[in-house]
Amino acid sequence: MRLSDCHNFHDFRRLAKKRLPGPIFNYIDGAADDEVTYRRNSESFEACDLVPSVLTGVEDIDLSVTVMGQKLALPIYCSPTALQRLFHHDGERAVAAAASKFGTMFGVSSLGTTSMAELRKQYGTPQCYQFYFHKDRGLNKAMMQTAKESGIDVMMLTVDSITGGNRERDLRTGFSIPFKLTLGGMAQFAMKPAWGINYVTHEKFSLPQLDAHIDMGGDTLSIGRYFTEMLDPSMTWDDVAAMVRDWDGQFCLKGIMSVEDAKRAVEIGCTGIILSNHGGRQLDGSRAPFDQLKEIVDAVGDRIDVIMDSGIQRGTHVLKALSLGAKAVGGGRFYLYPLAAAGQPGVERALTLMKAELERGMRLMGARSVSELHPGNLRFR
Ligand code: LAC
Repeated sequence: MRLSDCHNFHDFRRLAKKRLPGPIFNYIDGAADDEVTYRRNSESFEACDLVPSVLTGVEDIDLSVTVMGQKLALPIYCSPTALQRLFHHDGERAVAAAASKFGTMFGVSSLGTTSMAELRKQYGTPQCYQFYFHKDRGLNKAMMQTAKESGIDVMMLTVDSITGGNRERDLRTGFSIPFKLTLGGMAQFAMKPAWGINYVTHEKFSLPQLDAHIDMGGDTLSIGRYFTEMLDPSMTWDDVAAMVRDWDGQFCLKGIMSVEDAKRAVEIGCTGIILSNHGGRQLDGSRAPFDQLKEIVDAVGDRIDVIMDSGIQRGTHVLKALSLGAKAVGGGRFYLYPLAAAGQPGVERALTLMKAELERGMRLMGARSVSELHPGNLRFR
């Protein structure tokens, strides 16, 4: 199987599975508990059908959107995700380069493996920084400062991860950062020699956003332990309000799911909210963002940019979310499997296919621009 054989999300996933050591693949692929929410996220789009309009003159299609002050050529962006150089040695650099080519936003995570400043210097496309609120207030302050100095366009605070989700696949495989070479890990290495050679012959694994503050001391840490031990569960709306004031720019909360919380985000001056359940990786049994989108857009859509992520695999998923009033959508696994499968060309292929699906879908829907999509395009069953 080669990159040119990949025509959709599932093909990229299969190729990634072939290339990656099992623990790493399962870290990306897995979710919390019984993974019910993970599955529901994509299934939720099937609760409604698209109702096309015909004969509207759809020669030219404009896929651009403006969200949180950023003009994006595509309505989907590459959500910030952790540990990308573990998936492919080019990691964030590959994603940033691909996102730039397509004129869309990408994000760097607090757990990113390339520094936000380096990427900012190299790429002009909109860049967000995904912030984890740590117990160590000095670390929070320093990350905020670096993001400011780097010229980050959008601050994205994740609010659904103040404790680790129960990722049972990771418990079984013993996945941890940096990838631990246990006996099991060694066997995996041997089974995926191409990945192993690339891993050891490229820049050493590091977490530039955190390195100066966290002494890993050669030790390893599971993602669950990182969340539970280092992130601050005492974080409140007051803390966030202070951050919003301090940032004084585009600021969004990732992981808002209720109308009440959406209203509070407006009150404290956020410019965006991302409906998200972290790709099903945190609270299993929680509602799918798409199921919750309409009531939140109805409540606050005229005062704040409503965005959603989790479960998006197809252009038509994006079109359904935009029809209900999302300003844009984010995707994680949709570019991570391609990254793992083939690096930058993989991410570019994923974006090429997504763009083609969006253009085709818009034409078949009779919509020339994203602003022409509206709730009347959907019928719920
Ligand atoms: C995860 C975090 C790190 O879902 O975003 O694994």
